[in-house]
Amino acid sequence: MTREKIRDLVAQMTLEEKAGMCSGADFWQLKGVERLGIPSVMVTDGPHGLRKQAEAADHLGINESEKAVCFPAGCATASSFDRDVLRKLGETIGQECQAMGVSTILGPAINIKRSPLCGRNFEYYSEDPFVASELAAAMIQGVQSRNVGTSVKHFLANNQEKRRMTSSSDVDERTLREIYLAAFEGAVKKGKPWTVMNSYNRINGDYVGESKKYLTDILREEWGFDGYVMSDWGAVNDRVEGLKAGLDLEMPSSGGMNDALIIEAVKDGTLDESVVDTACERIIDIIFRYSENRDKTAKLDLEQDHETAASIEEECIVLLKNEEDILPLSGEKKVAFIGKYAEAPRYQGGGSSHINSWKVESALEAVKGIAEVTYAKGYDDAEDRSDESLVAEAVKTAEEADVAVIFAGLPDSFESEGYDRKHLNMPECQNRLIEKIAEVQENVVVVLHNGSPVLMPWKDKVKGIIEAYLGGQAVGRAVTDILYGRKNPSGRLPETFPARLGDTPCYLTYGKGGDHAVYQEGVFVGYRYYTSVGREVLFPFGYGLSYTRFTYSDLKLDREQMTDQDTLTVTVKVKNTGARKGKEVVQLYVSPAAGETIRPAVELRGFDKIALEPGEEKEVSFTLDQRAFAYWNEEIHDWYVDSGEYQVMIGKNAREMVLSAPVQVQGTKVIPTVYTLNTCLGPLLRDPKAQAVMGSFMGGMAQNTDAVEMQKQQEKQAEDPSAAVSSEMMAAMMEDMPLRQLLSFVPGVTREMLQQLVDALNAQ
Ligand code: BGC
Repeated sequence: MTREKIRDLVAQMTLEEKAGMCSGADFWQLKGVERLGIPSVMVTDGPHGLRKQAEAADHLGINESEKAVCFPAGCATASSFDRDVLRKLGETIGQECQAMGVSTILGPAINIKRSPLCGRNFEYYSEDPFVASELAAAMIQGVQSRNVGTSVKHFLANNQEKRRMTSSSDVDERTLREIYLAAFEGAVKKGKPWTVMNSYNRINGDYVGESKKYLTDILREEWGFDGYVMSDWGAVNDRVEGLKAGLDLEMPSSGGMNDALIIEAVKDGTLDESVVDTACERIIDIIFRYSENRDKTAKLDLEQDHETAASIEEECIVLLKNEEDILPLSGEKKVAFIGKYAEAPRYQGGGSSHINSWKVESALEAVKGIAEVTYAKGYDDAEDRSDESLVAEAVKTAEEADVAVIFAGLPDSFESEGYDRKHLNMPECQNRLIEKIAEVQENVVVVLHNGSPVLMPWKDKVKGIIEAYLGGQAVGRAVTDILYGRKNPSGRLPETFPARLGDTPCYLTYGKGGDHAVYQEGVFVGYRYYTSVGREVLFPFGYGLSYTRFTYSDLKLDREQMTDQDTLTVTVKVKNTGARKGKEVVQLYVSPAAGETIRPAVELRGFDKIALEPGEEKEVSFTLDQRAFAYWNEEIHDWYVDSGEYQVMIGKNAREMVLSAPVQVQGTKVIPTVYTLNTCLGPLLRDPKAQAVMGSFMGGMAQNTDAVEMQKQQEKQAEDPSAAVSSEMMAAMMEDMPLRQLLSFVPGVTREMLQQLVDALNAQ
């Protein structure tokens, strides 16, 4: 529907109808206006499948929803590092929405994994904003290609579950821009979501849902967002202030309470009616984008979508260890599957994303067509206590086999929406089981089902480790296909697995500080921190193995020098030098120019996933622009590139760079210098702009005989090898000496003279 027609509809609405349009009819429906032909439409969770509730609605996944397909959660799909996979996921979910009459799916959820402790990390994508934004954009495009909306969430800086409804994320401007906003920026600019969901929390004291800065100035004016903003469920503090700031739709219904406040505010003149009109126009526009494009032929094909769920998970699984090529398993080996998750996998997380899966395919079921395996349950995670008879049975089963594959991970209660984790440990009963089995069986493979990093005290005692994450209802098939080599693993970790909780960059503040979450680690989130301080980790960001090998060569940059207005084309050749076909995630990192600015050692600026047959070689190309070299400068409130030599690197992961080439980048933006009495002599004497003024000042000083005499004395002293201060030392001391200090050290210099100098410097 054209904007003009929409405006015309809004003009015909009463104030009551317009205020009503700005909040839900109930838990999941928006209000329509029947007399004007505006339909009421439904929105549904999200993000990795449909949680369509017919009755007894709730936002914590408590009541049952209609049977649907549970696709791999965000933790898994992000591991694919594959835009096509996310697009396919989006298309499939979009199709399901059309079939089930859902206008908008509440996702993707892309908050940055600031700490591995966040209870909701299983839904989120990455610790890296580039990965999160690129994959979210692909998912959004996929869903919306079916004329169904997305709601990218939870905007903004909602990185913990603890006190998520009241907590203030206290973050500096640069960190917000480079890390937390950046994840949404790319998703919004590239993906063009129909809606954005604002988070519950506050930022630096103010509710996001009342922040014009984030909801309007940045989201709409800077990034060009043209849909509507909806609140997270109940994330409304002051409805009228929210509306003014750009929060268009309140969800769910407030039972008419907030509609009445809107009407009152318009009547008493504290809210301009045009603000309500604009919100209605945005909401109606999106309602019609869906309702005018209903696909009447769309059918829910649960069987087919289960297959899609399996094929997506196969692209996501990460092979973490494969000593002595224990994997893939040969069909001839006697294999024991051990652990409850082989029979009943943990494949999704708890809370609003919980899907009522129509079926679940376990590894034990999926392996039937491939090989015969023995099975022992080993543990029951309902209680974290070893059951000695289960352990004994499992040890015996493992001992009798050639290989033991142990299915382990995190139980539901260990990670969920609504609260954070307290530690990174797996249940003790599972760790103990692995240790016990490793005592009797030298060929052990561990398959992990978890939504966020865990510690692996048994890592050195097992030969193989597979990270399946929360892989959706078809996870058993995907895992089995990887175990038996029907598929070659190609996932990479979109987050760091730390060696200890205490090593995590926000360890000291995360979950502490009452209603204030202090982001003291700044931009040093995840690998940005570990690589900068050289901290050993369990598995680095970007890590993952394959059943084949890839060799890199011919890293080429199309120029050696550039300004920040140019683009740089980077090419690299990748060859499959192993015996199987496989996929490699080519990762491009940039290391900053040396200088005063505190910056992470490396930052991911490009990635691409490519498929290669054995012996095949492909050239991969990346284009880097200003943003690949820039940081957010708080003095100019803009992206800024320091001039200098940057390294463009190709890495197997954030810790292992395989090729590197330098490029000289010239920054073109100018940070205006403000000179004060505290400006230091070193930078001042090197500052070309200051040279003329400084020259005449120094000349003036030279006429001061006392000063000249003193300088001579100092120079003489400095040349004397036995002197306490050499000329080098003198220069080093001068470097950081403020102008003000000349008052104490140079006879004859007065405060007035220095002030005149500063004024002259600033006047140029
Ligand atoms: C969650 C959202 C979800 C909404 C509706 C909230 O508690 O934070 O992600 O979309 O409920 O279920």
